Amino acid sequence: MRILFLGDVMGRAGRAAITERLPGLRAAWKLDFVVVNGENATHGVGLSADHAKGIFEAGADCVTLGDHAFDQSDMLRYVDQEPRIIRPINYAKTAPGVGARVFTAAGGKKVLVAQVLGQVFMKRPFDDPFSALDAVLSKHPRGGMVQASLIDIHAEATSEKMGVAHFCDGRASIVVGTHTHVPTADARILPGGTAALSDAGMCGDYNSVIGMKKDEPMRRFISGMSKGRFEPAAGEATLSGLYVETDDRTGAATRVEMVRQGGLLPPAGP
Ligand SMILES: [Fe+2]
Ligand SMILES: [Fe+2]
Repeated sequence: MRILFLGDVMGRAGRAAITERLPGLRAAWKLDFVVVNGENATHGVGLSADHAKGIFEAGADCVTLGDHAFDQSDMLRYVDQEPRIIRPINYAKTAPGVGARVFTAAGGKKVLVAQVLGQVFMKRPFDDPFSALDAVLSKHPRGGMVQASLIDIHAEATSEKMGVAHFCDGRASIVVGTHTHVPTADARILPGGTAALSDAGMCGDYNSVIGMKKDEPMRRFISGMSKGRFEPAAGEATLSGLYVETDDRTGAATRVEMVRQGGLLPPAGP
């Protein structure tokens, strides 16, 4: 299968880039399955139902969330009405929605998508990601009933994300990091055939501080004083993520490429 993953969509600029570019990429790269992280699509904080619909209309098959999953309160209900949205599996025992689901792609192929939160430097002590992943991957082994599987590891520390990737090596097709909004350059196939990237980066304006207009974060860094709220940066966004080809029989990754399209970052893709 040809699978595209795009990192955290950041505000209006990120949504515009998805709407303008994803339909063309889906056709040009003959994509079978597209996963988009939408946790910051609504003004940088959470995802509204309306904005989720826009991402699906542009060509996403699945939208993942993150620690900002429920910052928009309508997601508390919408996540149970829209089965294509996945929230972190270890968010909270009482959280609505699900953290893993098997999707049916074109041609009837099955794709498992799961999202898990890390624990290192995160704002709340989320449950152990490794035991949560072990349960999901035991239930849906690679090369079994699912043709491919993708794990979104939503975490701050690249060390923890690499740990998760190695934990899933040979058991998942793709392990891709989100949350930092800065792409890492370590896209590769691990020895067990799992494609891994520590962070996909954001779909947002990179003339910013992780997608927010520079002024307020710079003021807080330099003076320690805040004068206002963070506002999403409004310049042209770069779509940033990962392209992976997988073997339908084994679920192993056979090709992996960084993706950067539009905006400030230099272009990359298959
Ligand atoms: Fe994010
Ligand atoms: Fe996040």
